[in-house]
Amino acid sequence: MCGICGYIGKNNGVGKVVEGLKILEYRGYDSCGIAYIENNKLKLVKTIEGVDELYNLTCDKSSNFVIGHTRWATHGGVSEKNAHPHISSSKKLAMVHNGIIENYRELKDKLDANYYSETDSEVFLNLIDSKSGDLLTKVIDASKEVKGTFAIIILSEDGEIVLGKRESPLYLSNVGDELYIASDILALSGENFYTLKDDEFARIKNFEISFYNKNKEKIHKKQEKIKKNEAFLENFYKTHMENEIFETKNVLLKTLKEYENEAIFSKIKLPKNLKSISLIACGTAYHASLMGAEYFKEVGIDARAYLASEFRYGRELLNKNTLYIFVSQSGETADTIAAAKLVKSHKLNTLALTNTPNSLLNRICKNVLPTFAGREIAVASTKAYSCQVWSLYLFSLYLAGKKLPSERANSNFPFINFDEKFIKEIASYKKVFFIGRDLDYITAMEASLKLKEITYINCFAIASGELKHGTLALIDKDAVVIAICTQEKIKTKLLSNLEEIKARGGKVIVVSQFDDFKDFSCVKLSKFDELFMPIVSVIPMQFLALKICELFGYNPDKPRNLAKSVTVE
Ligand code: M6R
Repeated sequence: MCGICGYIGKNNGVGKVVEGLKILEYRGYDSCGIAYIENNKLKLVKTIEGVDELYNLTCDKSSNFVIGHTRWATHGGVSEKNAHPHISSSKKLAMVHNGIIENYRELKDKLDANYYSETDSEVFLNLIDSKSGDLLTKVIDASKEVKGTFAIIILSEDGEIVLGKRESPLYLSNVGDELYIASDILALSGENFYTLKDDEFARIKNFEISFYNKNKEKIHKKQEKIKKNEAFLENFYKTHMENEIFETKNVLLKTLKEYENEAIFSKIKLPKNLKSISLIACGTAYHASLMGAEYFKEVGIDARAYLASEFRYGRELLNKNTLYIFVSQSGETADTIAAAKLVKSHKLNTLALTNTPNSLLNRICKNVLPTFAGREIAVASTKAYSCQVWSLYLFSLYLAGKKLPSERANSNFPFINFDEKFIKEIASYKKVFFIGRDLDYITAMEASLKLKEITYINCFAIASGELKHGTLALIDKDAVVIAICTQEKIKTKLLSNLEEIKARGGKVIVVSQFDDFKDFSCVKLSKFDELFMPIVSVIPMQFLALKICELFGYNPDKPRNLAKSVTVE
């Protein structure tokens, strides 16, 4: 989703900001741009052709004051005029904005300004410009009237900069006489950084930085150390997604090593009388949470997973004996953050299971249990999912007082390379279904999400036992059913389901470690402990999605309409 970068310093900041935007590309965006000061005038360069094109358009520019943005369209289509930065009606201020201004229509009606875009952001900018006082006063006064979320940088034509935030992250770092600003720590330079809390602001004037609260009082801020989250392999493979799938084995081992002496678990403050666990997340992290809930139940702890976007508006009875685990690769997902804030406001026990050390979710939750998947760049989550499942499994063992496994993840992983014929065959079907029972049903959901998000095939997952309650009506010669079976107890029942599909002309492919499915096409898995099999079986499903995506000629790292961090609700 949207990304912000800024530079103020004695050197040329244009290339530095474009480089920062390049780092933020992985979050997903559809247009980008920069604003800078040249001869005391604000200049804009914007494009819908991507950051590489922005580089071509700006490589001969130079400025000490630069702000940049990658936009993920919400209000107004993808166009240069809607791309950020925006310029105020008076042409004196430029702005980049992450977030959403919910009351922008009402504000727009009240303001007397010219508009050049359809965005909510431009309304916020003109509201700021309409206020009186110095730039800091204008920004703080305007922020009191907006409803919604924001991380903003305002650049005035005389080189003053004010930034502020509410619910959307914004960081600064100071390297010698250079200041860097970014919405993602990855795009910052230096070793240390400052973080803005909600409704805090910073002013940069004459290269000096000062911080303020919403009452315009000066506040003191301490720097924090940037924690690195290194990936393990150089990019040996064609795409980030492929590279990241191949990193799975390393990151599982790294996680096991980090958890080994249990110190990381013993720091977690559990409810005094732990009775249940609620796991709350979105997308792939929700699937990991479903799996986690099964692991906790396996060791006798009542558990349930919730979609974060539903949890907020549901009727859940919050309980002091429950541990609330928020699972998120990025630690920035707006729905998950909103749910965590809700639970926190009731002073209940929260734990962030994230892959991003300095994330917002980590700051909100009382406890943090890190996953060690390293940086995940591809939009489609792969190694981070496996790591989340693995971490939840290990945590369940710890809670049950059981020994953690030592070398389980050290054996051969089934990095199955489907042959071209098999990929082509599956890709030729109009309808793709994933089925499974129990843990395999959860893997089926994740397999289906992976396939749809990067191949755009209309597919869905269904519990095998539910097929006969309606969906069987869709099975004919145009349907392929991928059945996952890794649990001994469901083998026989699944065989009957498969016969029903075959009888209706549907193609069946079984993904299993068992030898019982000889009458069907099979993807053979290596054999591990059954509770570990969900990690083994998801890998060929991730590969399947990747290979079909490549066959169709799409870029798996940049799927349409998706962003790596979904920072809007
Ligand atoms: O960063 P998070 O784990 O909170 O992200 C949650 C989902 O947006 C994410 O898992 C999404 O479903 C992935 N693109 C799936 O591959």
